[in-house]
Amino acid sequence: MSVNIVVEGDPQSVTAEEGDTLLAALLRGGVGFAYSCEAGNCGTCKCEYVSGDILELEHSEHALQAAERAKGVILACRTQVWGDTVIRRVNDEDFVMHPSRVMTCKVSAMDFLTHDILRLRLRIESGGPYTFSAGQFAKLTFDFATDHPRDYSMANVPGGGELEFHLRCVPGGVSAQVSARLKPGDSVRVSGPFGTSYLREQHAGPILLVAGGSGMAPIRSILHAALDKGFAGPLHVYFGVRHERDVYGEQELRDLQARHANLAVHIVLSEAAGAPGADRRHGLVTDAVRADFARLDGFTAYLAGPPVMVEAASDLIQRLGVAVRDVHADAFYATGETQNSKRGEHE
Ligand code: FES
Repeated sequence: MSVNIVVEGDPQSVTAEEGDTLLAALLRGGVGFAYSCEAGNCGTCKCEYVSGDILELEHSEHALQAAERAKGVILACRTQVWGDTVIRRVNDEDFVMHPSRVMTCKVSAMDFLTHDILRLRLRIESGGPYTFSAGQFAKLTFDFATDHPRDYSMANVPGGGELEFHLRCVPGGVSAQVSARLKPGDSVRVSGPFGTSYLREQHAGPILLVAGGSGMAPIRSILHAALDKGFAGPLHVYFGVRHERDVYGEQELRDLQARHANLAVHIVLSEAAGAPGADRRHGLVTDAVRADFARLDGFTAYLAGPPVMVEAASDLIQRLGVAVRDVHADAFYATGETQNSKRGEHE
């Protein structure tokens, strides 16, 4: 039997079969709707349930937390419709839509930022123009691994014809193959943008940026975009890595800090003390945040890095008063951890 789906404020309704997921029906009906993993892992497809007969399927706690469910937020990709249903988009800035692109790019430069983080610069050759919001990611497909597209965040600010990505190269992973086989001038297919952990430009309150390892890529993009737009409120960057040799991009962060009195940068090493004279803190990045703030009410937080760090940071800052809607994170999952989830930077 057919059912009707209405997105409040949209002019047209969509017809679906009983048991269809909301997302599948909306996309089939030509309704623009943000999504990424289609598997209940990323949280990109969040929306508000207004009325109707629905059945929620299993999803990860990271994608949709209990507090959000209690407020009627659902995942369109993990919600079946069994009767006429009405939903609402969460809010305007949560649904920034850029045209979806599939582009051919050429490698313009490759260099190592640390012993295992490769910076890859790609020049857009065709399929653009590419617009995205600072903090979003793209899927990269390499000729030698066409069955294994990988997700990497743009480290550059939006605009221009060149994209920058930071790949952590782990033996046996696609990123390691990239460092061994890719060379300047080679083609790479780039599709996107994806993800909802992007700079909310309308938020005027203080900003907390927490990066782990190559999670610095989207955090760098958000930081530059915020400063470029004249953001003058307090901006706190916490960059957590294991050892001194894992730190990268520090000079750029220190230069920004020297030019912007509202910016504070903390580099936190979890497994070793810093080099003599280096401005380092020791411990987990979450310990550093907890030591610095009794409360974080009114902050917007952007988190990027390994899932265990993102989840710990997300829990902490919500306990310190950041509203769920103001915590933005696209966690990276190790290869094989969950099907169709975000994979790449930390494999
Ligand atoms: Fe629905 Fe990822 S697209 S949770």
